[in-house]
Amino acid sequence: MKTIGTFAETRALVSGRIGLVPTMGFLHEGHVSLIEHARSMCDTLVASLYVNPTQFDESTDFDRYPRDLDRDSAIAAAAGVDILFAPDDEEMYPTPLLTQVHVPALADRMEGVHRSGHFAGVATVVAKLLAGIKPDVALFGRKDAQQLAVVTTMAADLSFPVDIVGGSIVRERDGLALSSRNIFIEDRTAALTLHVGLMAAADAFEQGVIDGAELESVVVDSLGDVELEYVELADARTTERLVTLDRPAFIAIAARIGGVRLIDNVYFTGTPLVADRGNRLGAESMLYDEGDS
Ligand code: PAJ
Repeated sequence: MKTIGTFAETRALVSGRIGLVPTMGFLHEGHVSLIEHARSMCDTLVASLYVNPTQFDESTDFDRYPRDLDRDSAIAAAAGVDILFAPDDEEMYPTPLLTQVHVPALADRMEGVHRSGHFAGVATVVAKLLAGIKPDVALFGRKDAQQLAVVTTMAADLSFPVDIVGGSIVRERDGLALSSRNIFIEDRTAALTLHVGLMAAADAFEQGVIDGAELESVVVDSLGDVELEYVELADARTTERLVTLDRPAFIAIAARIGGVRLIDNVYFTGTPLVADRGNRLGAESMLYDEGDS
């Protein structure tokens, strides 16, 4: 694996069908599952690692976002990445950006309401990665279901010649959706109730409940000591709130537990619709290696 800091050098090294897995680093099994999935779909696999300042609405969240290039390089190489594209700010934003990509119809709800400017930052940096690396396929996790919808729409609307592929959520042994921020969680019992609520909603759906408000209240009723921001049944493509679960969709939740903001969801896809509850690890996550917990 080569670690490269510029778009030009990356483009000079790739060949054949190119896969891209964009990340902000501090890799865990969720990222690894996308990398492994991408590996089977391409000849040259690029993972990008850049903690993108423009998508953070809270500077404290940006400042304390975990960063460890040596650790990430070892994980990426072992997972099959050919090129780790790890640009600095100068490469990504050499001059103040005068152009921004907005997808308001999809972005101005749920996460967009609670994280002002977040999706403009995401859509813009992903557009830059697609333009600069020119992948044939790019993978994104369902963990960030609204982000997946925003990126899919942005790539189609701007005619990027790329397939956007989604991957299932990877969960810790106890069901908590893997996130680089999990290392900061103190009240694990409360954090786990997000996942418990979502699984209860998936159970209800499997027992025939398709009413959106009812499914949302199943989630809310399971929550413990969390500061809830939203629970919404959303159309997987448009992110519009759904009254009835009758098409591909996800039930998304965002909540704060202590100082940590978590998001999770259960995704419904296929014909007939089936709940994608994610995949649980059989062992402790690599997030907690070397005493990081
Ligand atoms: P980051 O949070 O590092 O996530 C990188 C990719 O991994 C995203 O597509 C995300 O959905 C996926 N992912 C994270 N946790 C996951 C889990 N538990 N299971 C499956 N997939 C998971 O998302 C971003 O970075 C940034 O917004 C980015 C797209 C890189 C733009 O800066």
